[in-house]
Amino acid sequence: MQSKIILYKKVSNDVLAMLKARFQVTQFDTINATNHDAFIAELATAEGLIGASVKIDAAILDAAPNLKAISTISVGIDQFDPADLTQRGIVLLNTPDVLTQTTADTGFALILATARRVVEMADYVRAGNWKHSIGPDCFGTDVQGKTLGIIGMGRIGGAVARRAALGFGMRVLYTNRSPNPAAEQAYSARFTALDDLLKTADFVCVTVPLTPETQGMIGARELALMPAHAILINISRGSIIDEPALIAALEKGQLRGAGLDVFAQEPVSADSPLLRMKNVVALPHIGSATHETRHGMAVCAAQNLIDALDGKKSTNAVNPQR
Ligand code: DGY
Repeated sequence: MQSKIILYKKVSNDVLAMLKARFQVTQFDTINATNHDAFIAELATAEGLIGASVKIDAAILDAAPNLKAISTISVGIDQFDPADLTQRGIVLLNTPDVLTQTTADTGFALILATARRVVEMADYVRAGNWKHSIGPDCFGTDVQGKTLGIIGMGRIGGAVARRAALGFGMRVLYTNRSPNPAAEQAYSARFTALDDLLKTADFVCVTVPLTPETQGMIGARELALMPAHAILINISRGSIIDEPALIAALEKGQLRGAGLDVFAQEPVSADSPLLRMKNVVALPHIGSATHETRHGMAVCAAQNLIDALDGKKSTNAVNPQR
């Protein structure tokens, strides 16, 4: 008999066919208040889960006694408690690599958009304000030749460093749990203590994953270290930055601006002061959101689940197995 799995995100027909060729698939487009009970009921007999953007907590796992594998269609694993999954004998798999370049592009889009005031200037034209040749009040600041501080030199950090060093002639500083000799060699990146990076960089880009250790790591103290001309970019998870502290710093003119693809609460509230600031470029978590990359992630996640339930070891397994 085929194993039963639950798919909790919309995927394209070819990915669905991949899953259906191997499993009995129960499908939900997402999980919300209206279908939560039906989802819980289906969990009793499920061996696999595949989807994204839903917190899979202990209450959900308690309802899934037969679960062997969870395949998230994301690189981020902050919707899960990996240690608890290990305790329960459930393997968690993610989708690294396939989204690295696209997410780094989003980071660079935010660096350029904030530095050159792209969104603000586009709004200015759209509003019919472009009546004569623009003056210094509409100028931005250069990106090329400046210093970029990257917080977290993993795959995405490395791809941002490549764009910065090789494409824009930027000096790259970085923090990481340990030095990254490959990035030092390829991009002349310099391993730097966080405080020194914040004091020195013209642009700071957050790429580190959200963990209990990184939550709130950029707070009022850290923001105060940044020079007033600096720009903060976040393409990782909103909660890594203390959002009220960022709002206060921007309101005080302590920073030139911020480019944010992610927020502490998503979707960000329409009332957030961040959305009223001209020097903030806010995006709806589009890091990996291209047709090609999202499709590649779904294929990778489907293959991860097939391999895991076939008992194969996967390099995309992220929690230690007992
Ligand atoms: C990821 O894969 O973690 C991206 O942030 C999309 O959620």
